[in-house]
Amino acid sequence: EKAGYKHFMLKEINEQPRAIRDTTLGRVSLDTGKVFFDEFNISEDEFRKTTGITIAACGTSWHAGLAGKFMIERLARLPVDVDYASEYRYRDPIPNPTDLGLLITQSGETADTIAAQQELIAKGSKTIAICNVVGSAVTRLAAGTITTNAGPEIGVASTKAFSAQLTALFTFALYLAQLRGTVTDEQSLALVTELARIPAKLEEVLRTADDVCCKLAKEFSTARDFLFLGRGIHYPIALEGALKLKEISYIHAEGYPAGEMKHGPNALIDETLPVVVIATKDPSDPSSVLKYEKTLSNIQEVTARSGRVIAIAIEGDHEISQLVEHTICIPPTHELLLPILEVVPLQLLAYHIAVRRGCDVDQPRNLAKSVTVE
Ligand code: F6R
Repeated sequence: EKAGYKHFMLKEINEQPRAIRDTTLGRVSLDTGKVFFDEFNISEDEFRKTTGITIAACGTSWHAGLAGKFMIERLARLPVDVDYASEYRYRDPIPNPTDLGLLITQSGETADTIAAQQELIAKGSKTIAICNVVGSAVTRLAAGTITTNAGPEIGVASTKAFSAQLTALFTFALYLAQLRGTVTDEQSLALVTELARIPAKLEEVLRTADDVCCKLAKEFSTARDFLFLGRGIHYPIALEGALKLKEISYIHAEGYPAGEMKHGPNALIDETLPVVVIATKDPSDPSSVLKYEKTLSNIQEVTARSGRVIAIAIEGDHEISQLVEHTICIPPTHELLLPILEVVPLQLLAYHIAVRRGCDVDQPRNLAKSVTVE
């Protein structure tokens, strides 16, 4: 059932091109760029009148939500709040009745996420679920579901469900943008065309990054701590890289926004600390290039303090490879789609480090696949 792979996690990492294809299929037109969802009990007019979105989720799904905020705000120009589902109902939140609730959950059975959804509904919001399990509790409460067609996820550490959530969020952001008139037809078509190229680009990452990550694991598997840095939409991916490493290898890891380093965490840097920096850019996007340049200076701050940088960069970026000890390359794509490619080397790095340390990759200690108690 592991289809020749040593672990479910590795199998599921390798299933991501298909998971993304299946999450996109039938929902976008490659001729017009239009996005379709037929699974909503919310009218197009209600979507047009939506004043904001509250996302609630836990763990890896919360990281997807943080990335989704960038997608929805940028494409649909709608304000988005992202909450930990476990915190949401304890602060007597004030959702606007014209706001929409968005729950992101692989299992659809996470107790905290169900509780947040009930709170949203009780306060008058309609809710939408991005969920991998048809018929699960969250989908039954929701006025609409976007199913992530990642297929069953067995490994406790979430991988393909996460990239499928990012895909669903991207298409949902574009759907809202089209209804609200915040993207042109040309832009829609360009975005959908780029989305359709992601599975093939993922295949390329899987082909090239596995070897690199295996070698890096050999060098870094005895590290005591790890830092993961990113800026903008890449920051949630840094958080996800850190979570993957913690949960399966038991190495202490933290994700940080690159620009916050000088406000404290720089004090941690020494020659024993591996720092994974997501330093990608979309050259056609000035705000992405600006962010990248700022991240380059953050890398220099780390190397000046003898920190050991592993950069995730766009292939052919010689500026980065001259600056750092190790580079893992990914193909270029639109800024909002880069996270789907960036997370794969981070998953593989965590996987190979955990295997080297003799950890039970599919069944990490103290964790359950779905957390049905609060
Ligand atoms: C991490 C992981 C957990 C889940 C979290 C939410 O790899 O799997 O952090 O993401 O427990 O679970 P779902 O998405 O099922 O609500």
